[in-house]
Amino acid sequence: MVMEVMRAAIDREAAGERVVHMEVGQPGAPAPRPVLDAARAALDHGRFAYTEALGLRSLRARIARYYADAHGLDVPKERIAVTTGSSAGFNLAFLAAFDHGDRIALAAPGYPAYRNLLQALGLEVVDIPVDAGTRYVLTPEMLEAAHARSRLAGVLVASPANPSGTIMQPEALGALIEAAHGLGIRFISDEIYHGLVYDGVAETALRFSADAIVVNSFSKYYCMTGWRIGWMVLPEALVRPVERIAQNLYISAPEISQIAATAAFAAVPELEAIKASYAENRRILLDRLPGIGFDEFHPVDGAFYVYASVRRFSNDSVEFARRMLTEAGVAATPGPDFDRTGGHQWMRFSFAGATPDMSEAMDRLGTWLG
Ligand SMILES: Cc1ncc(COP(=O)(O)O)c(C=O)c1O
Repeated sequence: MVMEVMRAAIDREAAGERVVHMEVGQPGAPAPRPVLDAARAALDHGRFAYTEALGLRSLRARIARYYADAHGLDVPKERIAVTTGSSAGFNLAFLAAFDHGDRIALAAPGYPAYRNLLQALGLEVVDIPVDAGTRYVLTPEMLEAAHARSRLAGVLVASPANPSGTIMQPEALGALIEAAHGLGIRFISDEIYHGLVYDGVAETALRFSADAIVVNSFSKYYCMTGWRIGWMVLPEALVRPVERIAQNLYISAPEISQIAATAAFAAVPELEAIKASYAENRRILLDRLPGIGFDEFHPVDGAFYVYASVRRFSNDSVEFARRMLTEAGVAATPGPDFDRTGGHQWMRFSFAGATPDMSEAMDRLGTWLG
């Protein structure tokens, strides 16, 4: 649906109409300077080849250093696999960790590709709805209840989450991992929005377990969506299976992206300035959305999304999004992308865009709904 909203928005722009984009979940900023410099220098050298399937050793070592620097954790570089975006990481994780027909629990709402990939691989998705009662996160009790109904092989959690930006507080994450391990359920942690945190602490699952599969990416905090580069931290027993699947699936991540990504960790000052602009965008939305009538949303702890209820205006967020685009010139993503059952009353606003656009969108929505 997000792609359809995007297409409709582009059609309108082609017809000369102004559209404020709040549907896309990607940074507006280019990749940071050290990344571009490293890529330019590599281009002069010229030859790009396959790398080892698990990635350039220099990048794996640099990622291991990131865990030491940012989290004080000693993660052996041998457990790190470089992937073509976290999207490939999920594919590899699901193929390596599960068997056909296994049941995997996901929080609803959640990122739609998890479900689509799992189903394409013949795995069964078990949706667990989350609500304000648990601060919109999965709890050990929910996992135990779902497992008791029918055996789960895995659970996948994102923190900060998409579409909500909500973080699992470290104690909540630790407790869920402990419960999963106790029940023999494989834990997968999507940490792609780490670094983009405004409130609270986004702890890595690696703090609590060497058996969790951690998936991360250079796409969001590092502003490198189009470079298609991410990584996984694997339990030791899954390193070789993931390596063999990656060898067959795509041989290796693009070498130029791997070289460029190695420089991304040196870009923190530039990236923090970009994050400060998201923080300002977040402030504008949290300040103004309630007054316009979007007065219920999940906690916006991190990422760059507000997942807001449209109940006051409509029970059909797909139709509401269509009208919002045509009548107010603001594009956002309707909830059914993220939650097939409850999503028709919700909508995701992305605040990854430019700050003046955020104010303009709030003005437009205020006038439209006022
Ligand atoms: C929660 C989440 N996980 C994973 C991805 C995939 O990102 P990439 O493949 O660019 O790393 C996205 C992209 O929007 C996302 O929102």
